[in-house]
Amino acid sequence: MDRKEGKYLYEEIQDIILELVKKGELKAGEKVPSLRSMSKKLNTSVTTVMKAYMELERKGFLESRPKSGYFLKDAEVKTLPLPDATTPIPEPNPVSKFDLVLQLYYSMGSRDSVCLNVAEPHFELVPSDELARIMKKAISSTPNHNAYEFMGGQPELKRQIAYHMLSYNTRVQPDRMMITNGSSEALFIALTILARPGDSVIVESPCFFGYLNTLHALGIYALEIPTHPDKGMDLDALEQSLNRYDVKACITQTNFNNPLGYSIPPENRDRIVEMCSKSGVPIIEEDIYGDLPHDGKRPDTLLSRDYDNVIYISSFSKTLAPGYRVGWLYSERYYTPIFRYKTSTTVDTVRPTQLAIAEFMASGKYARHLEKFRNVCASNVSLFSMAISKYFPEGTRITRPKGGFILWVELPKGVDTLNIYRRAAHERIHIAPGTIFSSQDRYSNCMRLNCAVPWNERTESALKRLGELGKAEIAGK
Ligand SMILES: Cc1ncc(COP(=O)(O)O)c(C=O)c1O
Repeated sequence: MDRKEGKYLYEEIQDIILELVKKGELKAGEKVPSLRSMSKKLNTSVTTVMKAYMELERKGFLESRPKSGYFLKDAEVKTLPLPDATTPIPEPNPVSKFDLVLQLYYSMGSRDSVCLNVAEPHFELVPSDELARIMKKAISSTPNHNAYEFMGGQPELKRQIAYHMLSYNTRVQPDRMMITNGSSEALFIALTILARPGDSVIVESPCFFGYLNTLHALGIYALEIPTHPDKGMDLDALEQSLNRYDVKACITQTNFNNPLGYSIPPENRDRIVEMCSKSGVPIIEEDIYGDLPHDGKRPDTLLSRDYDNVIYISSFSKTLAPGYRVGWLYSERYYTPIFRYKTSTTVDTVRPTQLAIAEFMASGKYARHLEKFRNVCASNVSLFSMAISKYFPEGTRITRPKGGFILWVELPKGVDTLNIYRRAAHERIHIAPGTIFSSQDRYSNCMRLNCAVPWNERTESALKRLGELGKAEIAGK
């Protein structure tokens, strides 16, 4: 054991870190020097540095983040409690908050703002330039790139997706897969095939406002199921609704739900599949965040449990390329009506972007990008959570997503996040107010935040400002 001046080396290393903090050279939330760089600098082993960091972690000064290293914790930072399970009335409801959702969509693309409203990875956090280069190459090496794509989608892209899905135990046949203009089109097609105006469809509560937007457009009622922020739909409530109402489909996000962040536990997955199959209600499973587990362990799907009753939808919008509008839909039972419907609307999906993503996957770049991007998501979610615990009013609760990049924040009762939303928008800070995540009058004290933006002073100041606006709401100012 290395020992100097009565102190073990690992104790000295702890002092060095604390000294950096005292001098203000290492601030809350910042990464401490990596194990390797510290061991090199002090000419000691990585194991000794690791021992020091683990000891500092035990004392509550540092926190380790999977695959990202050690970060300085904040003395003011505390772990906020989870929101309670939600209690919507599980009855079919027409959807009517269309205008508010439209306002939110209008602010998309405004680059001079802090955009925490739309669930979109900032273009600097995904390999936008590399993808553009690959698209150029893919176009120049495909003589007929400016021709209609094969019906159903680019064959190589479908093969690559099928191969990728195998990595999470989901075995699909490319000829039952339809490439779509993002997941949004996939959902629209699935709902159009399964339900008519006036029919009802089950959703989680709160649920992604895009679903409500689509239900509104199709005149379909939303039947909201009480939902736990750590395991998803309340299964008893789901069972009762399946027995009581004539529902045409059940939409669920299995992995890293937007907005609550949970992943459905395996035993609940089995029961959802079983109950829906028994009731003859098709499941529309969306898995758009599934590739972003913070611990690197990609969860499986409902589709892998029931290839007949599950329609699976996903896209590259959250992981790689929101602007490319490439998603997919998989159904063994409904492929023919899906195909017919697609030919009667957009016919095909844009060819160059499909070629680019196919090449990106085939070259192994997608898998490598996911490795990195998952760590960015994990780190940003932690940084956002710490900042919220520091700046938001007493009584705030937040979710603890284990994947993806969305946080659901519940402020004390009585706070109206629509007021915060409006006031913050004047200062070019955009959030998604809780009320648009339900067809009922709910979640007015909640907001959803997109953490996939570069973490910098501007982002932290925006969170500080949102906290101040929350406190002002409480004080009635
Ligand atoms: C759960 C969920 N589904 C669908 C979408 C839209 O996906 P796409 O861009 O693939 O249409 C989003 C984007 O916010 C989302 O969060």
